[in-house]
Amino acid sequence: MKVAVFISGRGTNLQALIDACEAKDVPAEIALVVANRPGAQGLQRAAAAGIKTVVVDHTTFESREAFDAALDAAVRRAGCDFICMAGFMRVLTEDFVRKWRNRMLNIHPSLLPAFPGINCHERAIEAGVRITGCTVHFCRPELDNGPIVTQAAVPVLPGDDARTLAARILEAEHVIYPMALKLIAQGRVRVVNEKVLIQDGQFTSAGVMNPTKA
Ligand code: GRF
Repeated sequence: MKVAVFISGRGTNLQALIDACEAKDVPAEIALVVANRPGAQGLQRAAAAGIKTVVVDHTTFESREAFDAALDAAVRRAGCDFICMAGFMRVLTEDFVRKWRNRMLNIHPSLLPAFPGINCHERAIEAGVRITGCTVHFCRPELDNGPIVTQAAVPVLPGDDARTLAARILEAEHVIYPMALKLIAQGRVRVVNEKVLIQDGQFTSAGVMNPTKA
């Protein structure tokens, strides 16, 4: 499997995917990193790992369609057949998401379907939930929506602010994103009736993943 990773910023999830692929824990190759911002720190991580990078700067495109067409062309040019969004802060067109149906993952720092969208850490604290977490899911046109591959539960602790909570969740993200990609690269994931079944002997529903057992 040849994977393109889409980023906008610091790229710690990208790094977790790079490390897992390099360690041969995940039978996939990250063949391309695409950033929509020229200054994205993750580009340096990719370069350090010897991975091809391309900047597709959304501000230079007249429409979402033109931007998405450039993304699609870059991914195909690099021979990639799978996309991982890792902190990619652009909403993609329905057309693009359909084209990559069940071949594109996203990671979101909440237990979806709770708290989709931005500021989800603040909103979790504001709502007073005791448990939140993170989710890796296949992409559907609606934001932060689609069949769930892996999730991790993370406690909200007394005195948490958005920053401390985000840091705790991020550690779990770095476990469940490689885990999801591994299951897919191993051919152990099927989407049936918009739910992910994971093969463990037979294809069954896997439930919530516990990152400490990863
Ligand atoms: C992560 O919290 C991810 O879940 C969210 O954006 C953040 C990206 O962080 N979508 P990084 O760039 O991977 O460090």
